[in-house]
Amino acid sequence: MEGANTAITTTRLADYQPPVYRVEQVTLDVDIHPGQTRVTSELQLQHNPDSDQPAGELVLNGEALVIESLNLDGETLTQDSYHYDGHLLTVRDLPAQCVLTSVVTIEPEKNTALEGLYQSNGMVCTQCEAEGFRRITFFPDRPDVLARFTTTVHADKATYPLLLSNGNPVDWGEEGTRHWVTWDDPFPKPCYLFALVAGDLACLEDSFNTASGRPVALRLYAEHRDLDKLDHAMQSLKNAMRWDEQTYGREYDLDIYMIVAVSHFNMGAMENKGLNIFNTACVLAHPDTTTDAGFQRVESVVAHEYFHNWSGNRVTCRDWFQLSLKEGFTVFRDQSFSADMNSAAVKRVEDVDFLVNHQFPEDQGPMAHPVRPAEYQKIDNFYTLTIYEKGAEIVRMQYNLLGPEAFRRASDRYFEQFDGQAVTCDDFVACMEAESGLDLSQFKRWYSQAGTPVLTVTDEYHEGQYTLHVRQHTPATPGQPDKAPLVIPVKLALLDSNGQAVAMDEQGNRETVVIVDQSEQSFRFAVPEAVTPSLLRGFSAPVVLDYPYTEAQLATLLAHDSDGYCRWNAAQRLYFSALDRLVGDPGQAQSEALALKPVLERVIERAKEDPAQAALLLTLPTEVALGDRHSPLDPRAVHQARRALTGALGQVLEEQWQAQQQAWQRQDFSMEGDAIGGRQMRLLALGYLAAAGSAGVTETVGELFGHPLCMTEELGALRLLVHHGLPGADQALADFAARWQGEALVMDQWFAVQATCPGEDTVSVASALLDHPAFEWTLPNRVRALVGTLVNANPVAFHAADGQGYRFFCEALARLDAINPQVAARLANGAARLRRLEPQRQAMLEKGLQGVQQKASANLSEVLSRILTDRS
Ligand code: ARG
Ligand code: ZN
Repeated sequence: MEGANTAITTTRLADYQPPVYRVEQVTLDVDIHPGQTRVTSELQLQHNPDSDQPAGELVLNGEALVIESLNLDGETLTQDSYHYDGHLLTVRDLPAQCVLTSVVTIEPEKNTALEGLYQSNGMVCTQCEAEGFRRITFFPDRPDVLARFTTTVHADKATYPLLLSNGNPVDWGEEGTRHWVTWDDPFPKPCYLFALVAGDLACLEDSFNTASGRPVALRLYAEHRDLDKLDHAMQSLKNAMRWDEQTYGREYDLDIYMIVAVSHFNMGAMENKGLNIFNTACVLAHPDTTTDAGFQRVESVVAHEYFHNWSGNRVTCRDWFQLSLKEGFTVFRDQSFSADMNSAAVKRVEDVDFLVNHQFPEDQGPMAHPVRPAEYQKIDNFYTLTIYEKGAEIVRMQYNLLGPEAFRRASDRYFEQFDGQAVTCDDFVACMEAESGLDLSQFKRWYSQAGTPVLTVTDEYHEGQYTLHVRQHTPATPGQPDKAPLVIPVKLALLDSNGQAVAMDEQGNRETVVIVDQSEQSFRFAVPEAVTPSLLRGFSAPVVLDYPYTEAQLATLLAHDSDGYCRWNAAQRLYFSALDRLVGDPGQAQSEALALKPVLERVIERAKEDPAQAALLLTLPTEVALGDRHSPLDPRAVHQARRALTGALGQVLEEQWQAQQQAWQRQDFSMEGDAIGGRQMRLLALGYLAAAGSAGVTETVGELFGHPLCMTEELGALRLLVHHGLPGADQALADFAARWQGEALVMDQWFAVQATCPGEDTVSVASALLDHPAFEWTLPNRVRALVGTLVNANPVAFHAADGQGYRFFCEALARLDAINPQVAARLANGAARLRRLEPQRQAMLEKGLQGVQQKASANLSEVLSRILTDRS
């Protein structure tokens, strides 16, 4: 267990050294027994000619392993020829080539950190990325050591009828009540891609023929009760396999592809070679128990992990500073896949919404770090939105700069040139340069410079000449006071007074891209009249755009722009300016709503074209996003402003909302795009009506809750009942819990609905729920559902004036840290806005965090100290 005083070490990119020894082959034997698992590992070691260190000394990682024996080339090692301090094993006097065998014992049953080998609902499974393999056996636990793995698993037949590892099963047998299987993975891989599963699981089997005609067995495993929830993941997997062949020319390379669903999981899923391990929340789906958003998440995560087989596994990272090499690229790939499977315009807006509302705050707060960080304490803390989502935007910008054909040539070159190697972000960009002839040296600052650039744009029109004046500035971030200009591609169009895009050049193009690469630049266009600029189309760069749009211009963009992102952004700007005025003055909500009415009417009228897009356009910014615009944060005023505007919009557009909620009512369940969008629109309309206290809404929502077609409707109705305090809410919560007590993922939603109910009283509700029999500290999904959602999505509760939200949070942090440091550290990010609070709240939260810090694990301590030392 991690604890106070764990030595904190900083790892630096600048200190990278190649490994002194390579591991050619590792032969593992994992013998699972109740209470104790014995791991025997045989490493065939070879001195690395690329290292400037001589052969002789080898340092292996090994976390809290109990050594039974160590043996070098058949000779038992005596205590004076090695040293083990509980973290590192140093062996001296090694020849350049040798075989090191270790026998250690570990205790998966006691592993609540869910890193290494651990138990979940009776099965045994692994999570090795980033540094979990060292909790299983001694190894050079770094991604640039690629080895061939042969793994034998032994266990009791009855408890663990299924024994899995990477690659193909090559041998198996029985020994009385026990049995064993040997797996061989022909592809050399870093140990973070190792996986092992032992359990009694149900399997959904299918097959896939690759483009070159090789059959692949597809096996999805889950607990028996969940066998009926695997079809969607299977379909998503097959779609992803086909898509990667067609879009990137990438085929699958083993005979078997397996996914195992696990209830206890720190993150979303893991791309272990041939044996993915998934959080149940990212793989199980059934319309009765899973919302539409849940279905989409499964599709994208299944694809993401599959795509890693090339972007991550065949070509991996040299060191963890390059994490975004695989994660940013793979997120870009999964985003493109989902866009192709569903509505591309809606998907882009959803992704941008997520980025600006979650990654931007990270990039503007104490946790800001470059996409390729220069240093870290715990790498687990760097599985961030910046590495993943901003990293994906950086790849997307390169895609747009190169165009689809050159990008494809560059990705082919990348996969071919570096197949089987561990490489860097520079290697990736070099391929982009080689195939395009572009010089991306300045562009590469996106990898090394943290913070969100602000693009300040003004314009002028004189006699046929329209000029855009652009300034870029990236505010300071921790450790990076001065910023250099980035390469910012700005895609734009110019709209005339009817909202039509005008021709911008002699060829008659109505859209163009300008590259902003200096602190200040101007761009001229010959156009016949004064225009409204449609800027950053498709969200062509991850920047904050500062342009003084008038409300009339925003109305024009929202009504006429052909770019989905720009329409959504126009709507957000209109909402923000109304809400900003209402913070502290909610009494004006009615007149703000009346001013918005004609603009929104037009959006609602067009809802039948694309209900999902309409729902996005008609959704108000969150309290968190609104709160970030007001300093110091005033959570109550923000809450009242948003609530007032929601109610007023419900009232002034009551007829339209009524019409929508009726129009999208369905008798039969469907997963078609319009059916999903229709459910979004209907629930949104009901939300506005509920906020307005519209007559009959309680009955309509109650009816929906009682007779839902699917979980989206059932949960949507429950949320409306609870969040609007409608009559029957308590009964509905009780009925829901009784109905779904056996479905863990549905119960997570039940906790989350209550924890996100806006209001200070929610803190006492949530505190009481900690004692609910279904609440478990050892189940990360449950902790996130109850504690994480309150902290991150219910600011008026979290920042309750009397500090009870902070007490709830700090107690949870301390309690969780003793069980699972990784999840605790992630949760601690909820305090990142500490310095934006007014003095009283700030003092209360600071004191609480300092108390937690005293006993914090290394993971949690890194996050807390960054937050506590923030002086922004
Ligand atoms: N590589 C995984 C992914 O697909 C993330 C796993 C990281 N897990 C961890 N505990 N750090 O995104
Ligand atoms: Zn990933």
